[in-house]
Amino acid sequence: MPSVLMTGANRGLGFGLVKLYAVEGWRVFACCRDPNKAKGLNELAAKSSGKVTVHAVDIENHASIDALALQIKGQPIDVLLNVAGYYGPKIVSEPGGLQKFGESDYADWSRIYKINVMGHMKMCEALIENVAASQHKKIVNISSIVGSIGTIGHGYGGNMYGYRASKAALNAITRGMAEDMKARGIIVVAMHPGWVRTDMGGPGADIDTDTSVKGMKKVIDGLKADDIDKFMTHDGSTLPW
Ligand SMILES: NC(=O)c1ccc[n+]([C@@H]2O[C@H](COP(=O)([O-])OP(=O)(O)OC[C@H]3O[C@@H](n4cnc5c(N)ncnc54)[C@H](OP(=O)(O)O)[C@@H]3O)[C@@H](O)[C@H]2O)c1
Repeated sequence: MPSVLMTGANRGLGFGLVKLYAVEGWRVFACCRDPNKAKGLNELAAKSSGKVTVHAVDIENHASIDALALQIKGQPIDVLLNVAGYYGPKIVSEPGGLQKFGESDYADWSRIYKINVMGHMKMCEALIENVAASQHKKIVNISSIVGSIGTIGHGYGGNMYGYRASKAALNAITRGMAEDMKARGIIVVAMHPGWVRTDMGGPGADIDTDTSVKGMKKVIDGLKADDIDKFMTHDGSTLPW
């Protein structure tokens, strides 16, 4: 039975991915910050005959990532899906939520980086032996189109400085890890999930969670070694870095 581990598993895209992989018969390690508050996830795990387990991980807290690594030491992870992400304390439509030039709050920047960049990197470093011990050997870091420097000036760009910079940094470290992991046969990619109707994406976003997660899983299932230089999206298209 193939296995997947995802962060941010209690809501939004992470929970959508848990449900999809579980339905398709995968072993799912579902990680979230506070399992006591993850009602839907706990219900799903309880009905899964042990195929879905819930693990407490706050990716800002590296000790909690080390504890997870210890807990699942020796267990293969076919797909490591780093989904957890943080836009900032305000939603886009609130005053200050667009993170415009002149409005930077550097304490927020720091937190955004801790989660979206260092959190993903630490997850990869802590769990690399689990991925190396698996058959599929894939790592997918959920990024965003706003991290694409090549789209700036082509309909996208401006604003969202802290979040945008974090996703561009995530793309850079993902591309770097992909090169470093080549020799071990591990495929590492960054993926844009589409603009999705979650708490982060908001109600006006383009697509629903189902469309995004089904698309992403199809792309992940088909990943090949030479895909590492592509910044992929949920529908199989690519974006400029
Ligand atoms: N939705 C979109 O349109 C869109 C577009 C592009 C990229 N993305 C990316 O897709 C990913 C998922 O986004 P989403 O739309 O599902 O967002 P969401 O609904 O806001 O969910 C965010 C998830 O990240 C978790 N999280 C936040 N900080 C964490 C931390 N320190 N440790 C562990 N988990 C943490 C949250 O857990 P709690 O419940 O505990 O807060 C929650 O599960 C993110 O990386 C986001 O940047 C989303």
